[in-house]
Amino acid sequence: MKSEEKMGRIGWNSKTYRKFDEKRAGEYLVIANEVFAPLYPVIAQQILDRCRVSAGLCIDVGCGPANLAIALAKITSLNFCAMDFSPHILELGRENIIREGLTDRVTAVAGDVHRMPFADGVASLIISRGSMRFWRNRPAAFREMRRVLKPGGRGYVGGGLGSRELADEINREMIRRGADWKNKPTPEIRKKDKAEWAEIMGKARFTRYELIRDDSGSWICFEKEGERS
Ligand SMILES: C[S@@+](CC[C@H](N)C(=O)[O-])C[C@H]1O[C@@H](n2cnc3c(N)ncnc32)[C@H](O)[C@@H]1O
Repeated sequence: MKSEEKMGRIGWNSKTYRKFDEKRAGEYLVIANEVFAPLYPVIAQQILDRCRVSAGLCIDVGCGPANLAIALAKITSLNFCAMDFSPHILELGRENIIREGLTDRVTAVAGDVHRMPFADGVASLIISRGSMRFWRNRPAAFREMRRVLKPGGRGYVGGGLGSRELADEINREMIRRGADWKNKPTPEIRKKDKAEWAEIMGKARFTRYELIRDDSGSWICFEKEGERS
């Protein structure tokens, strides 16, 4: 069976795509490795340009098959914990890491963003793409990321397809493959959005953050106060 036939008519929105069980993990791998593949190097470069962290430990939260961690590993000297709470998708991530020859720098780790399996202050960078919409408690998740970040550590969390051209290409391909795909153009920053984020980041005690809404997607870039070591 061709990989695109395996996809079937899947709901790709948060309402219909809650649990990454074995079947869905396999379906997502096909999308990540085949359709989304070109977006990961683009987003990795945007993370590097915007966060300017290229050494130390990076945690990829809700890493899926670890494509973003792998792309960022290729352009930095960061070491990675690629973390996900789905054992099924993590197993596929391990296979991607092995295939890319990155087992010495990228480790797949089981964990939930609301209770991360890391000591305080270990991470120089936390990244996450396409996972936040599944989190049940954003203030708790951001509090937890703040705990795990080093002073001066940065975070880059959100979703997007990297650029307008890539979005057009990916949207066409997803529709061609018959997915129930409702990727919409990135909305402008709304006042409500800003207020919601002020509340979430206030509860998580982050004072430094920036909302990014452009052709790269919708992201929040944040920093834990303190001097970088
Ligand atoms: C749409 S996939 C994105 C995967 C990958 N980051 C990418 O860009 O291809 C969302 C991932 O987030 C994971 N996830 C959702 N909620 C999570 C949580 N609370 N803690 C850890 N992982 C979570 C899911 O298991 C899934 O692998």
